[in-house]
Amino acid sequence: MHIKMKKTLGFKIASNRSRVAIGILLTFFILTNLWMLSRIQDSGSVRLRFLNSNSSRVSLPDELRKIGKGKKPHKTAYARLLYKAAHALAENQYKSTEPKDLWLEPYHAVASSWQPCADQRVWKPSEGNNGYIMVTANGGINQQRVAVCNIAAVARLLNATLVIPTFMFSSVWRDTSQFADIYQEDYFIDYLKPDIRIVKELPKELQSLDLEAIGSVVTDVDIAKEAKPSFYLKYILPLLMKNKVVHFVGFGNRLASDPIPYHLQRLRCRCNFHALQFTPKIQAAAAMLIQRMRQNASHSGTLDKNLVGPFAKLKGKVKKKFRYLALHLRFEIDMVAHSLCNFGGGEEEKKELQAYREIHFPGLAGELNNTTKMIPSPERLKAEGLCPLMPEETVLMLAGLGFKRDTRIYLAGAHIYGGKSRLNALTTLFPNMVTKENLLSPSEIQPFLNFSSQLAALDFITCTASDVFAMTDSGSQLSSLVSGYRVYYGGGKMPTIRPNKRRLADIFMKNDTIEWKVFETRIRKAVRQNKRVFSRPIGRSVYRYPRCSELVLTDQEEINVAASER
Ligand SMILES: *[C@@H]1O[C@H](CO)[C@@H](O)[C@H](O)[C@H]1NC(C)=O
Ligand SMILES: *[C@@H]1O[C@H](CO)[C@@H](O)[C@H](O)[C@H]1NC(C)=O
Ligand SMILES: *[C@@H]1O[C@H](CO)[C@@H](O)[C@H](O)[C@H]1NC(C)=O
Ligand SMILES: *[C@@H]1O[C@H](CO)[C@@H](O)[C@H](O)[C@H]1NC(C)=O
Ligand SMILES: *[C@@H]1O[C@H](CO)[C@@H](O)[C@H](O)[C@H]1NC(C)=O
Ligand SMILES: *[C@@H]1O[C@H](CO)[C@@H](O)[C@H](O)[C@H]1NC(C)=O
Ligand SMILES: *[C@@H]1O[C@H](CO)[C@@H](O)[C@H](O)[C@H]1NC(C)=O
Repeated sequence: MHIKMKKTLGFKIASNRSRVAIGILLTFFILTNLWMLSRIQDSGSVRLRFLNSNSSRVSLPDELRKIGKGKKPHKTAYARLLYKAAHALAENQYKSTEPKDLWLEPYHAVASSWQPCADQRVWKPSEGNNGYIMVTANGGINQQRVAVCNIAAVARLLNATLVIPTFMFSSVWRDTSQFADIYQEDYFIDYLKPDIRIVKELPKELQSLDLEAIGSVVTDVDIAKEAKPSFYLKYILPLLMKNKVVHFVGFGNRLASDPIPYHLQRLRCRCNFHALQFTPKIQAAAAMLIQRMRQNASHSGTLDKNLVGPFAKLKGKVKKKFRYLALHLRFEIDMVAHSLCNFGGGEEEKKELQAYREIHFPGLAGELNNTTKMIPSPERLKAEGLCPLMPEETVLMLAGLGFKRDTRIYLAGAHIYGGKSRLNALTTLFPNMVTKENLLSPSEIQPFLNFSSQLAALDFITCTASDVFAMTDSGSQLSSLVSGYRVYYGGGKMPTIRPNKRRLADIFMKNDTIEWKVFETRIRKAVRQNKRVFSRPIGRSVYRYPRCSELVLTDQEEINVAASER
């Protein structure tokens, strides 16, 4: 109790202070809390409107008490700050104003002068005479998407014919979906026809080859990550010429971002942003999700046409825009365990994560066992901004930014570490939060249930089409592709909230003592800085930072490039 008071009130209590002083402080503490509680009750019980128009009256303090009543015995992280956030949200409930740049990209006048142009080409089709390239891509759907577009560039580089990529079955994702189950195969082949030749199958006479025996199977052990074009020309091209077919297995992140010839870079992006269209089955379901996030309003969003094609609503007269925020809370156990951070669950959490690492990341677990290795402490990792945001931190960030209590939030992903109870803070403060499972009826979602990649495609589309996309991690493939897509097509109107986690950690450090107003100001500053879209730093992914000369050109740059090519 003493410790709690000390933190709460920000007073240093020397151990020799008299009991009287402590008694006074205690009384003050209780009175303060009573006062805050009554303020919240005064503002009345709050009307909550769910997406399905279900309305019910719930009083805030009741709901707040539910926070932290999960199966885990630990006390809710940031309880005091969450309390302040709840208070602020309740107060702002009926105010009509939000911070003016909340749903905007900063500097969007500059941003809107960029035009997507990876669809333009200046070369003749490659005939693909040097042989056939096959790929079996590993990972989840988003990693596979990157592999597909990287291999398209490699096929062009080597003058090879590409066989439609196949996807490796993984014990993690457990999905048997192949290319044509996720993307429109014929569209893909036709769209890239001016660039590379793509066939659905290896020709009959090559099918009987034992590729393993002739050395034509190339795995990730054989290629360095981010390999340069010179590697492919030096080692793969001779193999291709000799055997007429090369099969890449895995192919995770095996093509560098730089240096890559200008037009090859553009081809990669043409593939990602133009040639890959989801199947009508996925587009139709995703269109329903987007629609329902917008309260069935008849308007369409900026990217709908690119994402769901013919299922996009026509742009009608817009009376009122129904906006939504999409949130990718990358807080699944693999991310949590791999980060080596501390998430407030005490010994139980430590044991659980260590056990998970022993099974899934044995190398990492071994390093942790090695006492001679210097492993940074969880506190250090956090201060460096290397920990994924916890759900509690995420909700504080959103509240601090000024999103209102009734903001419609689409939550992507599924298996939050710690289970549903770990989302209590989020659903209590922002009750209009839904997932695809809530938005689609059982019969609508049924055709997707056995296909985690197709479910992930629904998340991809719904996040990409959102008015604001917020990510809480720095490296996941979904967040990276979604934010890149929004940059490419968004014209400066599709902001992504990508917090500077080092600065956030600094703010959260003062969780118990910081004033809400101060917290708000600091959070807004920390987020605004990173919300702005900028050109691709050398070596970074073209899929994530498509604003570079290969892809999105301003008029002036377009002219310069055209001139330099003459
Ligand atoms: C409406 O809300 C109440 C209380 O939260 C819940 O019991 C009920 O199932 C909801 N109805 C629908 C159609 O979701
Ligand atoms: C809150 O801040 C204190 C230091 O002021 C820190 O010890 C504690 O771990 C913080 N709580 C959380 C949940 O980070
Ligand atoms: C591919 O074809 C082009 C045009 O015919 C040629 O210039 C280039 O050298 C070829 N590259 C390879 C690796 O065969
Ligand atoms: C939107 O339409 C769906 C399907 O027709 C319906 O179930 C849902 O209740 C509607 N939502 C709103 C907010 O009108
Ligand atoms: C690490 O140490 C624990 C306990 O000493 C042991 O059970 C575990 O197998 C070790 N892990 C590795 C990967 O060596
Ligand atoms: C522990 O780490 C040190 C330094 O990196 C290394 O030399 C040693 O072989 C490791 N020990 C074990 C048991 O892995
Ligand atoms: C999912 O697959 C299992 C077996 O692989 C099958 O029994 C089940 O019916 C399938 N479920 C759906 C919803 O298709």
